[in-house]
Amino acid sequence: MNIIIINGPNLNLLGKREPGIYGSQSFEDYLEELQERFPDVTISYYQSNIEGELINTIQETGFICDGIVLNAGAYTHTSVAIADAIRAIKCPVVEVHISNVHKREEFRHHSYLSPVCLGVIAGFGMDSYRLAIESLIGLNKEKEDEH
Ligand code: DQA
Repeated sequence: MNIIIINGPNLNLLGKREPGIYGSQSFEDYLEELQERFPDVTISYYQSNIEGELINTIQETGFICDGIVLNAGAYTHTSVAIADAIRAIKCPVVEVHISNVHKREEFRHHSYLSPVCLGVIAGFGMDSYRLAIESLIGLNKEKEDEH
């Protein structure tokens, strides 16, 4: 199984950025833990601060991988273009947030992406990514059982 994690703006600063909200672990360290935890899954990773680059990656991977775990950061709350990219591709996308966006400022309560994603996982810290991967593994198993 091939899964890609795509992180949006400012998530390259995880570990340094507002640790009270986002924790003190870098994403690179967390990714190693994830890869050890799911040895049968190829987990790739991409991060960009640039909206168009995130869209390019969604387009490039969205027809060939089994699932995308997407934390679009603040673009979640602003980007019709990322929502359109998700609509355009074939593989399921799980929207992820480290923080519980619903506990925070009102502008974080709305997501352009949720209506076009398989589901949303928010508020479990870095563990949100693990939960998203498990949901995609479960979905893949269901598909295999159908065949
Ligand atoms: C975030 C929540 C967003 O509102 C914020 O802009 C981020 C990170 C999260 O993971 O909790 O950059 O997506």
